[in-house]
Parts: sequence; structure tokens; C-alpha cells
Amino acid sequence: MLQVEELTRRFGARTAVDRASFTVEAPAMIGIIGRSGAGKSTMLRMLNRLTDASEGRILFDGTEITALRGADRRRWQSRCAMIFQQFNLVPRMDVVSNVLHGTLNRRSTLASLFNLYPEDDIHRAIGILERLGIAEHAPKRAEALSGGQQQRVAIARALMQEPEIILADEPIASLDPMNAQVVMDTLRRIHEEDGRMVIANLHTLDTARRYCDRVIGMLDGRIVFDGTPAQLTTGVARDIYGAGADFSEHATSTAIAPADRAWREAEAYL
Ligand SMILES: Nc1ncnc2c1ncn2[C@@H]1O[C@H](COP(=O)(O)OP(=O)(O)OP(=O)(O)O)[C@@H](O)[C@H]1O
Ligand SMILES: [Mg+2]
Repeated sequence: MLQVEELTRRFGARTAVDRASFTVEAPAMIGIIGRSGAGKSTMLRMLNRLTDASEGRILFDGTEITALRGADRRRWQSRCAMIFQQFNLVPRMDVVSNVLHGTLNRRSTLASLFNLYPEDDIHRAIGILERLGIAEHAPKRAEALSGGQQQRVAIARALMQEPEIILADEPIASLDPMNAQVVMDTLRRIHEEDGRMVIANLHTLDTARRYCDRVIGMLDGRIVFDGTPAQLTTGVARDIYGAGADFSEHATSTAIAPADRAWREAEAYL
């Protein structure tokens, strides 16, 4: 179904993703873990074609995704929706309009300009909000919602595209534990009930273990682990997070990347 072959992305002299290969046969829920700078976001961005690969290929049902251009590339992007850590909603716009934005790539420029949405789409948007338990917030501005609610709006917007794949880049890194659980439960439910593939960059081992059928571990751009949560032993986790790595460079920094914070948590946990 999804084949990633020797995928590489370089930024100047730096190799962000280094000959990564994996295959996903059937819709699964996959977690990608690894410390900050391991290449997790670059991997998701290549899958979605937000970033071009330097080398290697991505195939989906036999189609070479890495070769798609123009409208074909945009069509692919609507088949694999992205969810981000910071939600990427339009804060001053109401919730239902934010969700309807998920249909943008299907609509004419004129209709988009005047915020004209077909009635069917509006009903569908409300239906999705109901399913995610946030329909009561439909008329509110997105910025008036809690982080967990905003992330569910972002998921609703993604579902509006009827994607086959949902790519989530640290979807719970900005949320408190309770909201994080609601969002992860939501992603899991969408995977199980709709049979959609979910690939999420996650910054805690615990979350990956709990929600995913399969975990991919990255270190310095390479895939160093690919297996089930049960196979993710302490030793393997240490390999992924680069045991012995010196984190002192962050000691004086107030802005610790989520993945490095994750390592500190993981260290305590291991
Ligand atoms: N647009 C870019 N230009 C230059 N270098 C980049 C760019 N995007 C990523 N990189 C570099 O590629 C490497 C991988 O970055 P990436 O963002 O994919 O890591 P990550 O695993 O998502 O990290 P984090 O957990 O901090 O989000 C890093 O060294 C980063 O500095
Ligand atoms: Mg990242």
C-alpha cells in the first residue's frame, strides 16, 4: 500500500532523512519516535509532498508519489491530511469555517474568496464536529477553544478531505495530559472505525506504546527501529534516543525541543 524506498532529504551538508525504507501493507496506526532533529518532521513532510525528497521514492498503491507534479501533487496532499502541533487554525474564524477550509482544494477560487460553501459540505462539517464531540462549539471563534478542542477542530478539518492517510506531527506536544489523551483517543478511533492510516510523530514512548500498532524509531535521519510496541524494549529505546548523548547543551536553554524533553522523561522512565 505505502512503500518508502531509500528516502533521503538533504539540507545543504546536513542529511535530515537518510535512506529510510519501510512498507505499510494495510491501514495501521504508526508512531514515529526519536530525539529532536532525528528527521521525523522531514519524513512526514516528504510523505505529504510539502518537502521534496533528494533521493528515493514513495509509492502509494503503485503510484509514484515522489514524481507527482501540479494538480496531481495537490490531489495527493488532500488524500493525506496533515495535523500540526500548533493546530494551524485561523484563530479569529469560527470553528465550522475552519473545518470547511478542509474542502478548499476542491473549490473554485471565487467560491473560496467569498466563503461560499455548498450546504452539503456545511452539514458534513457539523456531522464531523458532532462525531468528535465538539459540535456545540461550531459557531465560536477557534481561538476561544481549549488546545484539545482546537486540535479536534484540526482533525475535523482533516477529515473533511476524506483522507486515506492522516499525518500528525507531534499532535499532542502542546497539550496537557488529559487533552492529549482525548486527541490520541480520537486519532485511534478514526483509524479503527474508518480504516484510515495514521502516522504520528510522537514525543513520548508511552504514547507510542499505548496507541500504535507499530513504532518506527529514527536517529540521525536513519530508521533504527521498526517493530511492535512489545519489541520496543529499554535497550532499543536507548538506541533510538542515543543513550549517552550529551544533553547539557540544553541545560541553560529554556526552550527544550519536545523530543529532548521526551528523552528526559524517557530517561526517568527507563
Ligand atoms: N528547512 C530546513 N532547512 C535546513 N535544515 C533543516 C530544515 N528542516 C529540517 N532541517 C534539519 O534537518 C534535521 C531534521 O529535522 P526535523 O525537523 O525533521 O527533525 P525532528 O525529528 O522533527 O525534530 P523535532 O523533534 O525537534 O521536531 C535537523 O537537523 C534540522 O535542523
Ligand atoms: Mg519535528
